[in-house]
Amino acid sequence: MMTHGYKPELSEGAIKCPIFQTSTFVFKTAEEGKALFEVAYGKREKLPNEELGLIYSRLNNPDLEILEDRLCLWDKAAACAVFESGMSAISTVLLEFLKPGDLVLYSKPVYGGTDHFINHFLPKMGIHALGFTPQQEYDDIVEQIEKSGKADKLAMIFIETPANPTNALIDIACLKAIADKYSTSEKQVLIAVDNTYMGPLWQHPLEHGADFVVYSATKYIGGHSDVIAGAVLGSAELMVRIKTLRTFLGNMAGPWTGWLLMRSLETLKVRMEQQQANAVEVANFLSQHEKVTKVNYLGLIKEGTRAYEIYKKQYHGSGAMLSFEIEGGEAAAFKFLNSLKLIKLAVSLGSTESLAEHPRTMTHAGIEDAQLDEMEITDSLVRLSVGVENFKDIIWDISQALEQV
Ligand SMILES: Cc1ncc(COP(=O)(O)O)c(C=O)c1O
Repeated sequence: MMTHGYKPELSEGAIKCPIFQTSTFVFKTAEEGKALFEVAYGKREKLPNEELGLIYSRLNNPDLEILEDRLCLWDKAAACAVFESGMSAISTVLLEFLKPGDLVLYSKPVYGGTDHFINHFLPKMGIHALGFTPQQEYDDIVEQIEKSGKADKLAMIFIETPANPTNALIDIACLKAIADKYSTSEKQVLIAVDNTYMGPLWQHPLEHGADFVVYSATKYIGGHSDVIAGAVLGSAELMVRIKTLRTFLGNMAGPWTGWLLMRSLETLKVRMEQQQANAVEVANFLSQHEKVTKVNYLGLIKEGTRAYEIYKKQYHGSGAMLSFEIEGGEAAAFKFLNSLKLIKLAVSLGSTESLAEHPRTMTHAGIEDAQLDEMEITDSLVRLSVGVENFKDIIWDISQALEQV
């Protein structure tokens, strides 16, 4: 994360990649400009040893390209595209691979913004959406697809696992089997997994059959609550399509965002490991507290359950996101949130500072009540993103706030 993809000799020996705050790049000759555009517009393949030169910062920029190369390492992906937000990354994947009449299958719950895009924007383009819950297994999901009457139109599966904010787990390999069942020689059903909750450290969806892994890089990748960004990773062939649409939507990240994220990547592993170690302590504390009726945390999943099997197979850690229910509904949850002194009452997650919020009235406020009930996003539920502070301070704060309830 410190040196990969960067050559100091190309930047006056600077040890770190400078911020290439430039909109355009000067060609050495007109012939070079022509050659670069031929590749950029797909008029010919890149030659075996041809270095793809820089053209214009909507297409490429060193701060983006080096960042993308580094992000590829975590997920063992062939290619990556960085965007100016997680929502840009998600909407670009969906727009590129869905067309009017198609069906998109998605897991419930997904992040509120993603839910809105799937259920309110895509229908305006004639794209149908079908949601399934983590409780449903293969046969049940297949039956639902068949009943929809649009089985032959299934084009894409979008999954968020663990689900935000309930930490419910979905078996990616099971959805891959469903994608294969509905793929034909003319059409491959593609799977995209939003891996924001696990960052690039604790889950690698491509290894389990996903075609794309998607991130809100605003979260663990950025990690300091000071930048909004997103990323998509996948095979070289599919990512060419994503990058082409990015070029024409113009929703790539700028050089400054790229530089900030590169700086963040240097500490990604140490930050996330500290956050996870803290989260384990916090989850154990919460699970024994008399006012807490339920704790959703990967490290507390009971052995012998289906969720435990998925956890063992698909995850490299229990993460640093948890949610819990406080006895007394919304009033109790609000009293708790208003009493916090160290933990900040704010949406977003994955940053150095601990953050708490009320999903039902905040991040997931756009979803109908009946759906929220089905997803177990209750009035009592509080979501906590555990930061890098001393865990004793975090527990002290939670403890004193629970006393006020
Ligand atoms: C799981 C998840 N995916 C996607 C997003 C959207 O990312 P961004 O806010 O960077 O657009 C968020 C934002 O909270 C999220 O939590």
